[in-house]
Amino acid sequence: MTIDKDYLDKLIIVTSKAAISSSFLVGKKDKNLADKAAVDAMRKELNKIKMTGEIVIGEGSLDEAPMLYTGEILGNKSGPKFDIAVDPLEGTNFAVNNLPGALSVIAIAEKGNLFKAPETYMNKIATSKVEKGLIDLDYSIKKNITNLAEFKNSEPSKLTACLLDRPRHKKIIDELKDLNVNLFLISDGDVSGALLVSKPEYKVDIFLGIGGGPEGVLAASALDTHNCHFQGRFIFDRDEDIKTAKKIGISDLNKKYELNEIVKGDSIFCATAITDCMPNNSIKGVIKKSKSSFFTETIFTHKSADNKGVIKKEIIFDDTKE
Ligand code: FBP
Repeated sequence: MTIDKDYLDKLIIVTSKAAISSSFLVGKKDKNLADKAAVDAMRKELNKIKMTGEIVIGEGSLDEAPMLYTGEILGNKSGPKFDIAVDPLEGTNFAVNNLPGALSVIAIAEKGNLFKAPETYMNKIATSKVEKGLIDLDYSIKKNITNLAEFKNSEPSKLTACLLDRPRHKKIIDELKDLNVNLFLISDGDVSGALLVSKPEYKVDIFLGIGGGPEGVLAASALDTHNCHFQGRFIFDRDEDIKTAKKIGISDLNKKYELNEIVKGDSIFCATAITDCMPNNSIKGVIKKSKSSFFTETIFTHKSADNKGVIKKEIIFDDTKE
């Protein structure tokens, strides 16, 4: 079964309206309001779509932001059944500080095909397509880097690794420095970070480290269409997370998930820029054309249609009526 291509257009509208709605709060230093604006607009737009869509990944519990709840059913409750993963405002810090990198993100797959990720951290690794067994979350940094350099007929000093700039990554960063790998350290936004391995022109060879689990699933759905390599392992270090994992049905808390265990079958991914986004801020954030007309740019993938790229759209959005 495949997802009808009309759903791509509908989802571009969903993330565009969420992006426009939170764009009014760019630079306003209010994380909850900015998140809420994106969440409310996303929920409203999703409810207009002919589908029964279940939120399997909502966002917000890590920082107690307003969220679309896991288990919430959206759509007009007719038509196809989908699993939905959302991050209505990915890169909240970027949005509230008026910095590049804020996105509104969604992924859908047919019912049962998206992993119900708990809202914990995830250890992730992503590269472009490589031979099976070449890059693995369980290998040392040195083994992954030397394998990748050899595979690319290159050397470690010519590779670039992207990861979140966090104290928890000190050991990885030190090891990468020892190998003379170029670092691309990001302050937030590891959905975009992971996507940088999807095209050679983005000049990122490997994405790695610990970030949000929901963000990992969202990135995986886009990387799947780009035929990339991705593995993730959730980190359950709090009693309440272990309880949630068991409730969801995860018995092996240390399991390493391959991309095809996280997202199966057909999927659609859309990420609309709220502020200018990577790479090189070439994806433009929301631009206001008139009181109720806006331009948005959305990164999208639709697996079965092998359709991927960036689309610019004019969206009519009147916030007095929305
Ligand atoms: P939010 O937009 O939800 O704040 O997430 C931003 C983000 O940088 C994600 O991209 C990333 O996965 C996560 O936060 C990392 O979490 P932490 O800031 O706790 O390291």
